Amino acid sequence: MSRIAYVNGRYLPYREAEVHIDDRGYQFSDGVYEVVGLVNGRLFDEEPHWDRLNRSLKELSMPWPMSRAAFRLVVREVIRRNRVKNGIVYVQVNRGIAVRDHPFPKNAVPTLVITSRRSNPAAAAAQAKGVAVISVPDIRWKRCDIKTIGLLPNVLARQAAREAGAVEAWMVSPDGLVTEGAATNAWIVTEDNKLITRGTDTSILWGITRGSVAAVARKAGVKLVERPFSLAEAKKAREAFITSTTSFVTPVVKIDRTKIGGGKPGPLTRKLQDWYRTYLARQGAAA
Ligand code: PDD
Repeated sequence: MSRIAYVNGRYLPYREAEVHIDDRGYQFSDGVYEVVGLVNGRLFDEEPHWDRLNRSLKELSMPWPMSRAAFRLVVREVIRRNRVKNGIVYVQVNRGIAVRDHPFPKNAVPTLVITSRRSNPAAAAAQAKGVAVISVPDIRWKRCDIKTIGLLPNVLARQAAREAGAVEAWMVSPDGLVTEGAATNAWIVTEDNKLITRGTDTSILWGITRGSVAAVARKAGVKLVERPFSLAEAKKAREAFITSTTSFVTPVVKIDRTKIGGGKPGPLTRKLQDWYRTYLARQGAAA
């Protein structure tokens, strides 16, 4: 089946889906994006994703490309035309097209691209078995809370992970504290069974999955502490895992050369996976 992309008002076959060379996303990474998950034909945590898109746009003084109501309809049409039941919707909004010049152009019309694709089967295996992560220095800018398309440090981190035979890279700031993964949020479980993840500061993306997993954990009576943790603390942790729209709750069984939990997914991680699945099922989606 040929894939269809929405580009600036048109539904196009992939080979015809193009943006201009003077698009500021291409020139300056002057754009933002979202990735929303689909399970059993339903978008999950949809509104929190659009709220975060709204915030990213606002932080960069960019307007919505259309009304939120119209936007929701276009998203559904892209899903429908691509016949995706389990997968993602990808949305990118760039500032617009203008002759290359750093300051914001006047009267730029935002570029809007929406695509949808099926989920990667490797994600399910990773959730069952757990994954290895490596640590890399966090070389990103100081506004990682904005979901911009400027992802080169994340790309380099993921590539380093792949070359090391790992799935994710945990980024570590100069003070030795883990910020987050290249495309996931990072969590550990301490010896005294406390669940730890970094708080929502500007050094991480405020993951929607992070927020939902935190809510289900609290509801189940788990003691959750939002604070930074060091790489050394992570290596001594009882359990570790990552969260994101595409990886849900995925156990981490190795950090660099150190096995976590004897190299097996931990019991609290397993429970969180179950609770998160139940949470999705309540939205009409079932993982
Ligand atoms: N990544 N941190 C970073 C740097 C991310 O890029 C992502 C998401 C997350 C998790 O956020 P959420 O739970 O809202 O998916 C954390 C997406 C999936 C991506 O770039 O493909």
